[in-house]
Amino acid sequence: MFQIIALISMMFVGCSALTVTQAPADTAVLIGRNATIACIVTNKASSESVQWKFRSNGSSTFNPVTFDSNILGSATKYAIQTVYNLTIITAATSDEGVYRCTAGTTDYDAKLTVVDLPSSVSLTMNGAANAGTTVNLTCTANNGRPTPNLRWLINNVERTSSAILQTGSVSATGYGNSVSNLPLALTSDMDGQLAVCYVAYDGWNDAMNATLVLDINGSAAVRMSAVLVVLGMLFSLV
Ligand SMILES: *[C@@H]1O[C@H](CO)[C@@H](O)[C@H](O)[C@H]1NC(C)=O
Ligand SMILES: *[C@@H]1O[C@H](CO)[C@@H](O)[C@H](O)[C@H]1NC(C)=O
Ligand SMILES: *[C@@H]1O[C@H](CO)[C@@H](O)[C@H](O)[C@H]1NC(C)=O
Ligand SMILES: *[C@@H]1O[C@H](CO)[C@@H](O)[C@H](O)[C@H]1NC(C)=O
Ligand SMILES: *[C@@H]1O[C@H](CO)[C@@H](O)[C@H](O)[C@H]1NC(C)=O
Ligand SMILES: *[C@@H]1O[C@H](CO)[C@@H](O)[C@H](O)[C@H]1NC(C)=O
Repeated sequence: MFQIIALISMMFVGCSALTVTQAPADTAVLIGRNATIACIVTNKASSESVQWKFRSNGSSTFNPVTFDSNILGSATKYAIQTVYNLTIITAATSDEGVYRCTAGTTDYDAKLTVVDLPSSVSLTMNGAANAGTTVNLTCTANNGRPTPNLRWLINNVERTSSAILQTGSVSATGYGNSVSNLPLALTSDMDGQLAVCYVAYDGWNDAMNATLVLDINGSAAVRMSAVLVVLGMLFSLV
């Protein structure tokens, strides 16, 4: 009888009751701001725990940060919001790395990137904007930390996979330039379309942008001939 009760209680311990309704997601935060990473848990039994751990970039070990609502790390660096979002207070580059929420027996990992935005982002077209030719659109983001990804949208269509991203030399503190070239085959119907280059990080895909309205030579003639057709129709009516 005693063994049966022990077996049943072991089954309850082994069977996790809690539910993670919002799991951690990769997050990017400006240097000096607070970052909050989600780990929202419901139906947690008192025998279960939710623990946050941190593995700094370049390290291989996770250090404990919280246990349920208790802060194990520095209380000026970490806070728990409700059950059990983790706030990293006044984010510094040393806070970069992976944050692990262990909810019951399951680990959920998210990456934190601490960002100093580029000083500028620009978008230029290299080559004459003639219909029927291929030009490069070039997007440059200067002196950002870390060097960002650059994302492309032409007329609201994602084109990033066609682009080539290069990063210049990166300083010891992680600052550098990102340059992306997008080869674009111009057609007259692209006249007036919007090209957008976004500065992007994991968890923040539109931190900054530069835009260019495509002004394509060759399309004015198309529009003019359309006007002439309309005029011709009007005259034929007279
Ligand atoms: C938990 O953090 C996430 C991510 O920052 C946020 O979207 C969500 O509103 C937070 N939830 C609560 C209950 O604080
Ligand atoms: C950062 O979080 C801490 C702890 O929750 C809070 O006291 C502080 O006001 C927050 N700072 C900002 C700028 O939101
Ligand atoms: C972590 O460090 C590596 C190399 O040391 C670097 O390439 C990467 O960008 C860093 N990640 C973050 C989030 O800082
Ligand atoms: C476009 O950029 C590529 C390198 O990414 C270069 O090889 C090519 O010559 C450039 N073409 C034009 C028209 O600038
Ligand atoms: C570009 O960024 C500005 C703010 O700097 C914003 O107002 C604008 O909506 C953004 N453009 C796009 C296409 O996202
Ligand atoms: C405009 O494009 C046409 C071809 O569509 C080309 O023949 C012409 O030279 C271009 N004009 C300029 C100013 O580039």
